[in-house]
Amino acid sequence: MPTNTAAWFVAKQDKLEVKPAPYTAPGAAEIVVRNHAVAINPVDWAIPILGDVMFPWIKCPTVLGADLAGEVAEVGKDVTRFNVGDRVVGHAVGLNKNRNNAAEGAFQIYSVVSAHMASPIPDVLPYESAAVLPLGLSTAACGLFQKDFLALQHPSANPRPTGKSLLIWGGATSVGVNAIQLAVAAGYEVFTTSSPHNFDYLRSLGASEVFDYHGQTVVNDIIASLKGKTIAGALAIATGSTGPCLDVVYASQGDKFVAIAGAPVALSELGSGGTLQILLRMAPKMLGSNISSGLKSFTRGIRTKFIFGSSLVDNEVGPAIYVDFLPRALAEGRYIAAPPALVVGKGLEAIQTGFEVQQKGMSAQKVVVSL
Ligand SMILES: NC(=O)c1ccc[n+]([C@@H]2O[C@H](COP(=O)([O-])OP(=O)(O)OC[C@H]3O[C@@H](n4cnc5c(N)ncnc54)[C@H](OP(=O)(O)O)[C@@H]3O)[C@@H](O)[C@H]2O)c1
Repeated sequence: MPTNTAAWFVAKQDKLEVKPAPYTAPGAAEIVVRNHAVAINPVDWAIPILGDVMFPWIKCPTVLGADLAGEVAEVGKDVTRFNVGDRVVGHAVGLNKNRNNAAEGAFQIYSVVSAHMASPIPDVLPYESAAVLPLGLSTAACGLFQKDFLALQHPSANPRPTGKSLLIWGGATSVGVNAIQLAVAAGYEVFTTSSPHNFDYLRSLGASEVFDYHGQTVVNDIIASLKGKTIAGALAIATGSTGPCLDVVYASQGDKFVAIAGAPVALSELGSGGTLQILLRMAPKMLGSNISSGLKSFTRGIRTKFIFGSSLVDNEVGPAIYVDFLPRALAEGRYIAAPPALVVGKGLEAIQTGFEVQQKGMSAQKVVVSL
């Protein structure tokens, strides 16, 4: 049996501890991946800061991390899509309430992954580049395709044009670069926002129009561009983007739904201190933003719903993305592993460094650690 090591989340406010971990064999519908690269998301460093507030069911010690790429090391008895040695990317869902399982965290050498949340990757795609995909891709897919969210047509190789436009606020986020590609592959025209230096990149991923979110007139500019079009709703990804998305959806013709990925307050603003101190500091802004968005959505008849980016593991969207869409789309070059990886080091010890780099803020890049 292989020897495993993990970067353990041992206690709130503490740094991760690299030490031995059990090797867990796969269940019938699972694979074990020998990780060669993992990527870091804001939630990975926010959980150690906020402790029980975000995922109250988590029991320490556990293993964090959602994004992994590596080689299949063992295959469950019912899995026919993978063989030992296959190169894969996978979404580790150990933090989901119904899993709550250290063996399914990404920040270790061997992770257990549901086979339908993993995709083969082309030989030319480095593990570091592939590892950027999972949580960004999954969160975008949850908001775009789940039946209780925007419920869009699914992506395919030859999408039927829907004639509808979609607003994605925060196109240069890790979630946004995936949302743009998925929506275009599903037959929608994409309007998005970013800083000007990312305009060309987002257009290269398929966005039709990109707007500078810093501009005073951005909401009115988007509304003007959408005049005469029918929208399929909006995906609010960037911090504070629910309000502007509600304004655009209200003023436009089409579906009255805003799927929300981003919190009302940036996780980078959490700062330090105990959970209570942090909450007291953030509460006025969070409350103000939630009340304002709640009022706008209620009075204007626009539905909103907050996304949990790994809920697709339990419904038809997970297999639609990781089994039916992604493998061929990556192999045929129709889908780009985005955003580009910023590799900050090698080894599990480098994950803590990665937290610090990510916390300072990213622009169309994702922090990755090689293993
Ligand atoms: N609900 C969930 O399950 C879930 C899952 C994953 C992430 N999230 C949340 O989704 C958000 C994005 O996460 P991520 O990892 O994708 O972020 P990220 O890649 O770290 O986002 C960085 C990008 O945010 C963009 N940005 C910042 N403020 C903006 C604004 N006001 N309008 C438009 N774009 C803005 C910047 O674009 P420019 O560089 O172009 O300025 C930057 O490129 C975070 O709030 C995160 O917590 C939620």
